[in-house]
Amino acid sequence: MDQTTFSAVDEFAADLLAPHDEALQAALTACEDAGLPAIQVSPLQGKLLQLLVGLQRSQKVLEFGTLGGYSTIWMARALPADGSLITLEADVDYAEVAQRNFELAELADRIDIRTGPALETLLTLEEEGAGPFDFTFIDADKVNSPNYFAWALDHMRPGGVIVADNVVRDGALADRDSGDEKVEAQRRLHEMLADELRVTATTIQTVGSKGYDGFTIALVREA
Ligand code: SAH
Ligand code: DHB
Ligand code: MG
Repeated sequence: MDQTTFSAVDEFAADLLAPHDEALQAALTACEDAGLPAIQVSPLQGKLLQLLVGLQRSQKVLEFGTLGGYSTIWMARALPADGSLITLEADVDYAEVAQRNFELAELADRIDIRTGPALETLLTLEEEGAGPFDFTFIDADKVNSPNYFAWALDHMRPGGVIVADNVVRDGALADRDSGDEKVEAQRRLHEMLADELRVTATTIQTVGSKGYDGFTIALVREA
């Protein structure tokens, strides 16, 4: 099995199960035209996030790493009209592209983009008393995923779900001598999860148009 097959299967299933409507297509085109890196989740992964947000009956969602808002649009579409999504983005130019995409998708009323390094924005959210969140998607700078996870966990409702992207990193997750700080952060995240009594978690390896990577999914225990 090779990357060509993984991409072909992704395309086949996505065309049927996660097709782009006008707003999603326009969002991706706007990202391309603005020269953003094409590192958004795949269509099928966006659909997975949408399903999870919906399964949680989420009213409040938190996202780390907006880019052009592609994953955000997938998730926000699973919110009720009075639901809200806060998405954190360090890059002001990316956030501007995302804001336009939310307006075109008629989701701007539900989505609040906060620009700046997420660790700083979290201090503001703390002061505002933001949350509790039903669902959190961690997809920003990978070295900070354990820090984002720790903050999110303290601000989730019981029964909430936290998903972290890019944890497998071409299999480097299993390499204790990788020396890559992004990989080390994902290993640390797993160790945190193993020791954390408040959550129960799993990691799913993925192949597809984005190569070989994976998600960690953590459920916040009810009691
Ligand atoms: N979730 C998006 C992809 C995010 S890519 C999607 O699937 O559509 C990762 C994003 O994290 C980039 O836009 C990058 O600018 C942002 N980022 C990097 N470091 C950050 C930080 N310290 N705080 C907030 N965002 C950050
Ligand atoms: C890359 C992929 C991602 O999903 C992400 O969030 C950041 C970077 C990448 O392939 O470089
Ligand atoms: Mg990602």
